[in-house]
Order: sequence, then C-alpha cells, then structure tokens
Amino acid sequence: RQNERESLLIVLNFAKTFFQETLQTSDEGKSIGLSYFRERGFTNPTIDAFELGYSFDQWDALMQAALRRGYSRDVLEKAGLILSKEGGKVFDRFRGRVMFPIHNVSGRVIAFGARILKTDKNQPKYLNSPETPVYHKSQVLYGIFQAKQTIRQEDVCYLTEGYTDVISLHQAGIKNVVASSGTSLTTEQIRLIARFTPNVTILYDGDAAGIKAALRGLDMVLEEGLNLRLLLLPDGEDPDSYVHKVGAEAFKAYIQQHSQDFIDFKANRWLSEAGDNPLKRAEGISDVCTSITKIPDPLKRQTLSQRVAQVFHVSEQSVISEINRQLRQQQ
Ligand code: UTP
Ligand code: MN
Ligand code: MN
Ligand code: MN
Ligand code: MN
Repeated sequence: RQNERESLLIVLNFAKTFFQETLQTSDEGKSIGLSYFRERGFTNPTIDAFELGYSFDQWDALMQAALRRGYSRDVLEKAGLILSKEGGKVFDRFRGRVMFPIHNVSGRVIAFGARILKTDKNQPKYLNSPETPVYHKSQVLYGIFQAKQTIRQEDVCYLTEGYTDVISLHQAGIKNVVASSGTSLTTEQIRLIARFTPNVTILYDGDAAGIKAALRGLDMVLEEGLNLRLLLLPDGEDPDSYVHKVGAEAFKAYIQQHSQDFIDFKANRWLSEAGDNPLKRAEGISDVCTSITKIPDPLKRQTLSQRVAQVFHVSEQSVISEINRQLRQQQ
C-alpha cells in the first residue's frame, strides 16, 4: 500500500507540473488562465507559492501527456485525475479550469480544486478531487503547508472558507491562514491546527451560510481545547474580496478591532435578538453555557463563567450552576 500511495503522489506531482506549464507557457493557458489570475490580483510569486495552474479545455490533454511519460490509466484513475464513463470513454476530470493544487502538511500534492472561469449555472464553480487513498477531505486544510511556519511564529491560525481567501491573505502578508474548503469543519482539521498553535480565529464569509458554519464550528474547536476568536466580514464580503478592497493594513486593523471571543460573539447575537425579553436572555445564557461545557479544562470554564455573568448582567453563581447542571445532564 505504501507503494500505491507513492505512485499516486508521483502522478499527482506530474499533473501539478503539467498544469503549471500549461498556465505559464501555452497560448490557451496564458490568455485564459493567467489573465484570470491577473484579474484577481494574484502576482507571480503568489502563483508560484501555491503552484497554481490551468487545465486545457480538451478531453484528454493530461491523460495523453501522462501515458506518453509511462504512467498507467489505472494510476491516473486512482489519483482522481481521469474518469471513465460506460462505453469505455476515458477523459480528464479537470478541463478548462484554473487549478489549485491541495498540498499535505509536508508539501506534497494530494488533490486539486479547479475553478471554472465564468459562472455557469449548469456547472459547479469548483470541482474537487474525489476521495482517494492519499486524499481524505475531512483531514486536510488547504494552505497548511504554506502557512504552518507563520502559524507557529504568530501563534494563531486564521481559518477561512475558501482557496482564494488563503491565497489573497497570504499575498497581503497574512500567511498564517488555512481554509476548510467549503466542507463543515471536522475534528481532524482542528487537531491539525493544534499541532502548530492553540489559538484559532474563524474568518468566515459575511453571509448567512458563513454565520451558520461559524456557529457549527465553534463548539468543535472548544471541545479540542483550543482558544477561539471569531470575526464576521461585512455582509457580502469574504477575506479575499475584503483584503483587495481595503488593503493589507486596513484588513489587519479590521481583525484587531472586530474579532471577538466566542462568548462576545454568541452573547451579542443573543442580546440584540432578545432586547429586554427575559426568556430570550435566559435562552442566550443557557446557549453560551452549552459552549462552555465543551471546554475540557475546568479552570478555563471557571474563568469564562465570570465573563458570561458580566456580559449578561447576572450573578456568577447562577452561571456556574447552569454550567454544572448541563454537565451533569451530559453524563
Ligand atoms: P465560496 O463560494 O465562498 O467560494 O466557497 P470562494 O472561495 O469565495 O471562491 P471565489 O472567490 O468565487 O473564487 C468557499 C469554498 O467552498 C468550496 C471551495 O473550496 C471554495 O473555496 N466550494 C465552493 C466547492 O468546493 N465547490 C463549489 O462549487 C463552491
Ligand atoms: Mn488512507
Ligand atoms: Mn461563501
Ligand atoms: Mn467566499
Ligand atoms: Mn471569494
């Protein structure tokens, strides 16, 4: 099995280089792919750092090149690079798209995300590699290889939704960024971050889906014992669009000024909804306490109880009793 994994990694690396060369040297790649990246503001060093590429808008350009170099159909298919339909027709999975290689923590390419150039209702915006022996989506964070050193140095990891969020923040000098790539956050992904820092800041898109995803991810991050802050971007913006709009310095200032710990994040939402409705406020306290019960460290739970009491203007004792009540119930 070790041999199979290695041969998949080798053919994936071949595909990555093929897509890079297509982007950099073919007429189609330059006029379509490279100009797309230019329009998005990506510079050459950024394109190199993320090993971005382009796939020809042809049925089997990659497959033919790979077969000529001695790779088998079987290994191409197992790597998720080609598809075979009934009737025996075999063709490239990724065609006419800009290519985002997905690297594992040691920098080897294990999969691809591939973006369509123009929006088309009949096709997904991003096509991604399927699960393969080397790619388990739930265990991977996009950008971890490019980010890990800075995550250690800065002792915080910014968690975004998408490929281009990671790339644009990296280009703006904020390199401690990864993306969960549209899937809901998993425990394995959180543990991957925890190898480099105990501090996570969630920077999800400022839309309903982003808020929902942030609330879903919140308790999971706490369960793993990590410290969590959250930041919602203005409605309709994501980190990529916002950093291009306001620039790197203003983006950093925005993070400093608007990121909140999870208590303030949750409490503010409850308080603005509840007004002076006491039942809604009680529901809010109970909800924040539920998140606190996820934290494994009793000392941290204790300290955070004080914060909850302050924010909701109730006694610390009532918060502690609520947390203990819920902890007993969960047993
Ligand atoms: P978004 O819709 O926020 O896309 O999805 P984006 O990252 O801002 O992309 P651009 O700026 O339009 O290029 C967030 C992430 O969800 C995954 C991708 O990983 C994407 O980056 N996704 C989204 C898919 O896998 N497939 C899709 O069709 C859409
Ligand atoms: Mn496996
Ligand atoms: Mn989104
Ligand atoms: Mn987005
Ligand atoms: Mn975007």
